[in-house]
Amino acid sequence: MIQAEIANLSKKYGKEIVINDLGLKINKGEILAVVGPSGCGKTTLLQIIAGLTGAEKGSVVLAGRTLLSVERNISVLPEKRKIAMVFQNYALWPHYNVWQNISYALRVRGVEKSKCEKIVKETMEMVRLEGKQKRYPHELSGGEQQRVALARALVIRPDLLLFDESLSNLDAKMKEKMQREIKKIQQELRLTIVHVTHDQHEAMGMADRIAVMNKGRIEQVGAVEEVYKYPVTQFVAGFIGTANFISESLDDLTESKLWRRAVRAAENKNKNEFRNKENLLSVRPEDVIIKSGKGEIIGTVAKATYRGNAIDYEIIAGKRVLYVQTDTRNLYELGAEVSIDIVRAVTIKDN
Ligand SMILES: Nc1ncnc2c1ncn2[C@@H]1O[C@H](COP(=O)(O)OP(=O)(O)O)[C@@H](O)[C@H]1O
Ligand SMILES: [Mg+2]
Repeated sequence: MIQAEIANLSKKYGKEIVINDLGLKINKGEILAVVGPSGCGKTTLLQIIAGLTGAEKGSVVLAGRTLLSVERNISVLPEKRKIAMVFQNYALWPHYNVWQNISYALRVRGVEKSKCEKIVKETMEMVRLEGKQKRYPHELSGGEQQRVALARALVIRPDLLLFDESLSNLDAKMKEKMQREIKKIQQELRLTIVHVTHDQHEAMGMADRIAVMNKGRIEQVGAVEEVYKYPVTQFVAGFIGTANFISESLDDLTESKLWRRAVRAAENKNKNEFRNKENLLSVRPEDVIIKSGKGEIIGTVAKATYRGNAIDYEIIAGKRVLYVQTDTRNLYELGAEVSIDIVRAVTIKDN
C-alpha cells in the first residue's frame, strides 16, 4: 500500500534546476533511504514534502490527501501536514528543557494537558529519556539530543517521518545503536520513514528500500539487495558499493579479455537490451576471483587493505586498476602476479 506519492516534482533556485521532474512512491510502514551526493537535492526534496518550501511543478499526496499540487493550486500549511522532520543538527530549542522541547508540537496544536502529558511520557520512555525531562539541551550528550529530536517528531504520531542526515553527527557505534532503536520504534508505531543520507552503509543498514538520487532525480529505487546486485546506471553502481566498469576495448589486450570474460559472466535482467545497446559492464569486487600464478588474464597486486573479515586488493591489469575483494584464507603479497577471473557482471547504462 502506498502511503505517499510524489509526482513530476520540479524546483529551481535561480537558474539552477534542483529537483528535476522527480517521481517517488513511498510504501506504508517502510523505511525508504534516499541516498545521493551532497548537493543533489535531498534536503530540498524533504523541505518540499514537509511544506517548508514550494515547487514550480508537481504534486505530493500523503495518505490519500493532496498536500501539494502546483497545477491545482493546492498547498497545505506545514503544521497541517502530519509530517515530522528530524534535522542533522537536531534544531532543539536551547532555552527549553527536554519536556518543553518534546511537548512543543502538542501544545501548539492545542492538545489537552493531561493527554499531552501522557503522550510525552510514553514517547520519552520509547526513546529512553526517562528522568531527563528537566535537562536543557546543553546538558545532554549528542546521543541524548538526538533522542529528544526524535521524540519531538514522534509526539504527533506523524503519517510520514523525515530524517535529514539525522545520524551523521554520531560516532559509528552510537549510529548503529540509534539505527536499531529507530527501526524498533518504527515497527512498534508502524511508522513510514524517509531517511535521507549521503552514507550508503547507513542506508543499507537500516532501510527496506533505497532510492538513489542524482542531480535532482531518482535514478533507481528498489530493495537494498536489488539495487546493489542490479544497478541500472554507472552512477548507481558506483555510489552504492564499489564497482569495476569494463567496456569493450580494441587497443588493450588485457581489457578486451576482461570484457569478454565479463560478457560471459553477465547476469542480466534483460539480455536483449544488453545485446542491442549496452556497452558497459559493472563488476563488483567480490565477483573478481584471483589466484596465484599463470592464467588467461594476468595482473599484479598493487595494494592490499586488511578489513578483518575480508581483504581489499587493487590489482593492476593492463592499463587499469581492478578492485577485488577476497576472504582472508589466501593472502597475496604486494607485487605478486595473479590470474584473474570474473564470475558475475551486470550491464549498466553509461551516464
Ligand atoms: N535556499 C537556497 N537558495 C539557493 N540555492 C539553494 C538553496 N537551498 C539549496 N540550494 C541549492 O540547491 C542544491 C541542492 O541543495 P540540497 O537540497 O541542500 O542538497 P543535498 O541536501 O542533497 O546536499 C544545491 O546546489 C544548493 O546549493
Ligand atoms: Mg542536505
